[in-house]
Amino acid sequence: MRKYLIAGNWKMHDAPEGAFDPSSPYHTHASVDVVVFPTYLDLQSCIDSKILCGPQHGHTEAHGAHTGDVSLSMCKKRGCLYALCGHSDRRAEHKETSEEVAAQVVAALECGLHPIVCIGETLEQKNAGETEKVLKEMIAPLPTESKITIAYEPVWAISRGDPNTPAATPEDAQTLHALIRSLLPEDRREQTRILYGGSMKPENAEKLLSQPDIDGGLIGGASLKPDAFAQIVAVASNLSK
Ligand code: PGA
Repeated sequence: MRKYLIAGNWKMHDAPEGAFDPSSPYHTHASVDVVVFPTYLDLQSCIDSKILCGPQHGHTEAHGAHTGDVSLSMCKKRGCLYALCGHSDRRAEHKETSEEVAAQVVAALECGLHPIVCIGETLEQKNAGETEKVLKEMIAPLPTESKITIAYEPVWAISRGDPNTPAATPEDAQTLHALIRSLLPEDRREQTRILYGGSMKPENAEKLLSQPDIDGGLIGGASLKPDAFAQIVAVASNLSK
């Protein structure tokens, strides 16, 4: 059985109040892996507080003349364990291509970080019936024979500050998670965790997380609210029993 992984993507926000307290819900759990992706500014505080964490993006080269960038290997050296790769914000705002995302995944693996790589279709692509094609294109360059985690995040379901954004239905999400799993190499298919992201919150977490191919969540808005995040972790913990 795959262990649930609940990841918080704090995006460009300060750490939530009390996040670094020993009793905060951002600490990992015996029955559920919990990870957060803060800004670079809060990575060290997470590490010092023993919160499993990683950068939201990292440069593939270890060092060099790349003003404004931070490398994946520098994050690893500081104590990060994970790396988020190819979030739709990065694909949209920084024009990261699927090949560049794959290069980040490879660089993360090479320096010993566990990559969580985001894939998902936009509303335009969904309406044009292109979801399957888009997911296949995003997966094709990835080193799926390696130990990676995939986060299926339909871009149209990401809340971007609007709490009324609808998540994918559990049935639709399950269908696409099963499709994604079928595209993985046979010997990695059962072990690879596939997280769902896009307006997961306490109200819908149980239905989403109880789908057979949904192995956790990548949570934006609700991860900034410690109570809501704690409730989602509790749902995953109960489902693990
Ligand atoms: P959301 O964000 O939970 O606020 O929809 C998810 C994400 O962008 O990773």
